[in-house]
Amino acid sequence: MNIRLFKPSVGEEELANIREVFDRAWLGNGPMVVKFEEAWSRYIGCKISVGVNSATAALHLALTAFHFPEGKKVLVPAITFASTATAVLYNRLIPVFVDVDPETVSMDLDDLQRKYDKDCVAVIPVHNGGYPVPMDRLMGIAEKLNLKVIEDCAHCAGGGYKGKKLGTWGHIGCFSFEEKKCMTTGDGGMICSDDVDLIEPLKAYRWVGIDKDTWRRAKKASGLNENEAMHWHYEISVLGYKYNMNDLAAAIGLAQLEKLDKMNQKRAEIIEKYIDGIKELKSIKPIFPYEKRNGAYWYFGIRSHNRDELIIFLKNKGIATGVHFYPLTLQPLFKPYSKNCNNAERIWDQFITLPSHVDLTKSEIDYVICTLNEFYSR
Ligand SMILES: Cc1ncc(COP(=O)(O)O)c(C=O)c1O
Repeated sequence: MNIRLFKPSVGEEELANIREVFDRAWLGNGPMVVKFEEAWSRYIGCKISVGVNSATAALHLALTAFHFPEGKKVLVPAITFASTATAVLYNRLIPVFVDVDPETVSMDLDDLQRKYDKDCVAVIPVHNGGYPVPMDRLMGIAEKLNLKVIEDCAHCAGGGYKGKKLGTWGHIGCFSFEEKKCMTTGDGGMICSDDVDLIEPLKAYRWVGIDKDTWRRAKKASGLNENEAMHWHYEISVLGYKYNMNDLAAAIGLAQLEKLDKMNQKRAEIIEKYIDGIKELKSIKPIFPYEKRNGAYWYFGIRSHNRDELIIFLKNKGIATGVHFYPLTLQPLFKPYSKNCNNAERIWDQFITLPSHVDLTKSEIDYVICTLNEFYSR
């Protein structure tokens, strides 16, 4: 056995869309990106989406959209991937780490209110592993404290909370289509919002500050009825980045979006099998309380007091594992910003992520469950 932890699920539909891009021979930011952005807005139920090359870029630009004065503070959870907090530093803002709830591994909203001070301007809730932050409560707190809310939806494309899609609760939602995520474009990300005026300028920020994209200008560069000599003209008024999505990525994304609900359903079924298969094992439990109805969990994790021993045992049986996540407050870059995240720093060393991808077979899941049982019956 050699069971991967994550694996993108791609096939003929993605290849057909890529062929269309090849036939057009326009591989950069072009019509496929526009099509994907529009499809994404319809799927999520928002007014505007902007495709970028990662969720890291999406989070960076989402904060940039607000033009917060340098040195203001942004609340982020202690357990998340680096990008949630590096986006804050890229914008010359200060991350304030909020502890996690020990049961849900989700941002502790009581600690958020304790850590808040008058310099805080925004909060980035992370739906870690797809477990939703209670957005109704968070939005109430944010309104009271005048905080902008940027949802980090890197783990929950297609997920919802109380009947509303994650990514549409806050002022801006940021998604990841990196190869391991709920759906993929190879690498990619999406910024979405209902505030068109806030988000539209980000199209220049993702394209090195240029106010017109090359595809639109190229269309005007030739043609019988085109008698405009200035088709090449553009203006650079902001300091932008090379963060655009390209048509190859968007082509994959369009095919993946069609499959997203089915893939999320499949992942939910895998998680259900795991939960059922480990229920007699008193030494381990799911990393957080998976609730079927929310429907978009990126990974299945467990907690074990013998984590490292179990990781090695599984490795020797051909089963790959991971740890999501080592608290950022323990990382050298972020230590200067760390204060009282005791739950995060206490619980993380029990976390193990098990193989959780859509193409896992029943016999592979059974094998993982059997191997866990074998470990605990020694
Ligand atoms: C919580 C979280 N936010 C942001 C990111 C960044 O995503 P990307 O790889 O698309 O930049 C990740 C990536 O794993 C993540 O886990």
